[in-house]
Amino acid sequence: MIRAHVLVCGGTGCTSSNSPAIAEAMEKELAAKGLADEIKVVRTGCFGLCALGPVMIVYPDGTFYSKVTVGDVPEIVEEHLLKGRPVTRLVYDEAADKDTHGVTSLSDTAFYKKQMRLALRNCGVINPEVIDEYIALDGYMALGKVLTEMKPVDVIQLMKDSGLRGRGGAGFPTGTKWDFAAKSVSDKKYVVCNADEGDPGAFMDRSILEGDPHAVIEAMAIAGYAIGADEGYIYVRAEYPIAIKRLEIAIAQAREYGLLGKDIFSTGFNFDIQLRFGAGAFVCGEETALLTSIEGKRGEPRPRPPFPAVKGLFGQPTIINNVETLANIPQIILKGAKWFNSIGTEKSKGTKVFALGGKITNTGLVEIPMGTTLREIIYDIGGGIPNGKKFKAAQTGGPSGGCIPASHLDTPIDYDSLISIGSMMGSGGLIVMDEDNCMVDIAKFFLEFTVDESCGKCTPCRIGTRKMLEILEKITSGNGEDGDIEKLEELAYSIKASALCGLGQTAPNPVLSTLRYFRDEYEAHVYEKRCPAGQCKALARITIDPEKCKGCTLCAKICPVGAISGTVKNPHVIDQSKCIKCGACMEKCKFGAISKA
Ligand SMILES: Cc1cc2nc3c(=O)[nH]c(=O)nc-3n(C[C@H](O)[C@H](O)[C@H](O)COP(=O)(O)O)c2cc1C
Ligand code: SF4
Ligand code: SF4
Ligand code: SF4
Ligand code: FES
Repeated sequence: MIRAHVLVCGGTGCTSSNSPAIAEAMEKELAAKGLADEIKVVRTGCFGLCALGPVMIVYPDGTFYSKVTVGDVPEIVEEHLLKGRPVTRLVYDEAADKDTHGVTSLSDTAFYKKQMRLALRNCGVINPEVIDEYIALDGYMALGKVLTEMKPVDVIQLMKDSGLRGRGGAGFPTGTKWDFAAKSVSDKKYVVCNADEGDPGAFMDRSILEGDPHAVIEAMAIAGYAIGADEGYIYVRAEYPIAIKRLEIAIAQAREYGLLGKDIFSTGFNFDIQLRFGAGAFVCGEETALLTSIEGKRGEPRPRPPFPAVKGLFGQPTIINNVETLANIPQIILKGAKWFNSIGTEKSKGTKVFALGGKITNTGLVEIPMGTTLREIIYDIGGGIPNGKKFKAAQTGGPSGGCIPASHLDTPIDYDSLISIGSMMGSGGLIVMDEDNCMVDIAKFFLEFTVDESCGKCTPCRIGTRKMLEILEKITSGNGEDGDIEKLEELAYSIKASALCGLGQTAPNPVLSTLRYFRDEYEAHVYEKRCPAGQCKALARITIDPEKCKGCTLCAKICPVGAISGTVKNPHVIDQSKCIKCGACMEKCKFGAISKA
């Protein structure tokens, strides 16, 4: 009988820090100690705390080990699995009780307690390469229920009643989208899963595909039944090799079990899925560009209407749903619309997965009920801002989103509230910034990304975003002039109004939101030639405080351009016209006499 499970994360993060070798070593060690029949090693998807990888969790006690190495395996087996004494030096800080030297289960840590894992329910729980593990947790039961007990219209009504909205960015109601496609008359229809995930720093969809690929496959088959489609495509970026491998395995296993292919559950319903690989262009995540790319053409957006639900892939009615949207669906079918509807806010139901990054203690993947505040995410789940720094802003929605300042930390997160404060939910990137971040520089970073990723098809986006970037470069390099800020705003609104697709229509958002909340920083750059955060190199002033300087001469010796002058035991001075702001003198001064402003 199995008395313990050792779960080893096989997500991208942990795999890159050697988790496959750890799982293998664990199996060998267990076999050597004669424990192979009573302790099972399970290779799972991501647990969410990727920065602590490779991670391992031991059940039934739920002990969470972080930064495990192959060399730690014999000790874990000997001490924990044989003698019942967890190896506390390897236990994740938050799960180790410093007073009692005991161990808290991972689910009781602050990082997990406020989370609600619906889309991520099986990630870090099952082996995604074994279909039986998915089936053991009610997998494919929703498909069985739909095919044997429900009519397509009932499925669509249930989706509408649940209030599920698309997690890919726009938040369009899923049931309504399915209804449009169901009502489009055609012999051939398609279901497409958008797994392009192009936002910088986002990895929600990758983790779901790596940790629970069958949930997406099952949901696509349910969608196929609801709209009358027999074919599906998953468009996944080629940079996701682990997700692709697990999808290939999952599709093959589902076919073998008769859960994909012809006459599923002997109901006469046929549905199969193919994979298509994206080359990493951000614009290919836009639904019409994605369809064009699947058709084998250059991935450029096309005008809507006609919408894909009417004329989509190969000219046929098509629904496109995001990975996370789909991952929610089997549970909604099994637990009902009311259950899902009871989670979240009035207009945003269920949960949302975020990739937490930037200046935050716990980086990683979190799933929270809609309506959770940004403060709860950042301070309770994320553990706050490291190094005693002050929170400045949180960026949601990636290159299409905006920066939220401290005054809105208590806004409950949902689609509408984020839009009302000038940001957007987006697909789930959440980057935290502290007092050292320059907001003009942040806006420039996102605009550089969109300028690079613009497909060039329409002029407002191709030329307009470049012009905006030029103005930002001018401002951050100290050459900003009176009128530049107004010009930026004017361009931003005209691009938003005239660009062809969502990429251009939302590209100005990071600029507009930083202008809304941090206009004083723009003005300091333009009118005072000063970067308040001290990030814009061209504007930084490195100065020596004569009160603190002891005249040790070390700084003058290290300065690569000879910008520092002074005599021994007398205060030194920096010649601003020579200084290249390399910061070498600041590091060298033992008296803290040199500072940047
Ligand atoms: C430039 C751009 C990039 C996009 N990238 C993605 C993406 O990577 N993944 C995604 O699901 N949706 C992306 N979208 C949104 C899709 O166009 C579409 O709304 C979504 O896939 C619909 O699925 P949902 O209703 O389940 O959210 C992007 C939109 C734009 C304008
Ligand atoms: S808005 Fe930008 S990305 Fe979209 S079609 Fe126009 S040029 Fe291409
Ligand atoms: S290193 Fe510091 S103390 Fe020494 S001369 Fe330079 S500024 Fe003065
Ligand atoms: S920042 Fe660099 S260039 Fe400027 S004074 Fe210091 S060492 Fe010299
Ligand atoms: S990849 Fe291992 S915890 Fe995320």
